[in-house]
Amino acid sequence: MSAATTINGGLRRVPAWPLYILGAGYMVWEFWQALNGLGPYGVEPINVLEREYGEIALILLIAGLTVTPLRTWTGVNLIKFRRAIGLLAFFYVLAHFLVFTVLDVQTIGRVVTEVIKRPYVTVGFLGFLALIPLAVTSNNWSIRRIGPVRWRRLHKLTYPAALLGALHYIWLVKGWPLEPFLYMGAVIALLVLRLNWTKIRAILIPSRQQTNS
Ligand code: HEM
Repeated sequence: MSAATTINGGLRRVPAWPLYILGAGYMVWEFWQALNGLGPYGVEPINVLEREYGEIALILLIAGLTVTPLRTWTGVNLIKFRRAIGLLAFFYVLAHFLVFTVLDVQTIGRVVTEVIKRPYVTVGFLGFLALIPLAVTSNNWSIRRIGPVRWRRLHKLTYPAALLGALHYIWLVKGWPLEPFLYMGAVIALLVLRLNWTKIRAILIPSRQQTNS
């Protein structure tokens, strides 16, 4: 029996719902720490919380993108956890956005100005918009309603959302810290792995039959 089969056998017994509890619990825990100025929240708690939620959102988006290539390349199947990962990514982006709008910027006029005037905020906002239809349709009823083919096509919006999220991070940092580039590298690598390599090889290296004709 292969390692992937053993892992999949074990995973079959693990339910997806604890992920929601873990994700929500961690979000509340961070908020509570920020509220009480604990841990990393001693200085500028609102800004630290905003950044924390943003970074977790990006990590979850990347984790969601990992599921399919992991199955294709190793056989390990985490598909049943993907909806929970994706929805948690959305709720962390939403929390990130709410901390920015309600606690940081505080007025609708200033939020609009920030979104229009600061390119990195515009890019983040576009990423957020791309995630909304995904979050709304991440349920069995929507899959039935839209049809699996169109649903899968719609859910490819995760690709631009993750790219925009990573670009947003690169754009907002000053200097050349490694972290945002590592996230962007991971997103690009995961998207490249999803390409249909059989098709690409067939286009780039035509078969002998085609070459001879
Ligand atoms: C796909 C959506 C998004 C992702 C993945 C994302 C991710 C991130 C990340 C990773 C950071 C930096 C965290 C760090 O420094 O450790 C960040 C910062 C920030 N994000 Fe987002 N973000 C998204 C959407 C948004 C939206 C919709 C807004 C507001 C309209 C926004 C506003 C900001 C701001 C203002 C900061 C900088 C906070 C500061 O240092 O002052 N982001 N975001």
